[in-house]
Amino acid sequence: MSPKVPPISAVDFLPSRRTLPALREAARNCRGCDLWKRGTQTVFGEGRAGAEVMLVGEQPGDQEDLQGRPFVGPAGRILDKALEAAAIERDDVYVTNAVKHFKWEPRGKRRIHKKPSGMQIAACRPWFDEEVKAVAPKVIVCLGATAAQALLGRDFRVTRDRGKVLTQGAIPIIATVHPSSILRAPDDESRHAEMAHFIADLKVVAAQIAQQKRAA
Ligand code: URA
Ligand code: SF4
Repeated sequence: MSPKVPPISAVDFLPSRRTLPALREAARNCRGCDLWKRGTQTVFGEGRAGAEVMLVGEQPGDQEDLQGRPFVGPAGRILDKALEAAAIERDDVYVTNAVKHFKWEPRGKRRIHKKPSGMQIAACRPWFDEEVKAVAPKVIVCLGATAAQALLGRDFRVTRDRGKVLTQGAIPIIATVHPSSILRAPDDESRHAEMAHFIADLKVVAAQIAQQKRAA
């Protein structure tokens, strides 16, 4: 039986050459779901082929939509700090999102983030699958429930299984919270605690890479 695919998807927009630059260029004109109408531009992943770690968020935010680059807004700053604290080199990281267009709703003058639907996540999936093939990371890290559930199934719970090395396919997957959840912490004390937990999860990622290098 063929897998469930949305009526339209990014599949129709994939280029014949599947290098990162070719994929990125083709993704600019993707109309694989209705989100291209709402976002300013496609926000493709960033990093080099061969990067050891692939980080997957949900979708670009307001700043990412305007700048055309993933994780350059407030959540990205938290992420950069945590990567540094976990001693993961920025150059060893490819960052991307489950969905490549910003989904938002107007509220006054602001654009408020809206969660992508399961259909939109599925429609965008071909870009992610091609990124994985082109980058060939040693470990994939899901940032938050949207990415985790897209890769690990709807029943996956980040709160229960964060920071564990999960081997489903060929590449180990580790899930943790989304950095924006740390920004939403109600007070300094819980923010610090959540940041420490996030860093601890990223240290599991660093240890996983080190272990693979020793085994190689
Ligand atoms: N949140 C995400 O999930 N991805 C980004 O690129 C920025 C914010
Ligand atoms: Fe294409 Fe993904 Fe944008 Fe939808 S969200 S138009 S599938 S790039």
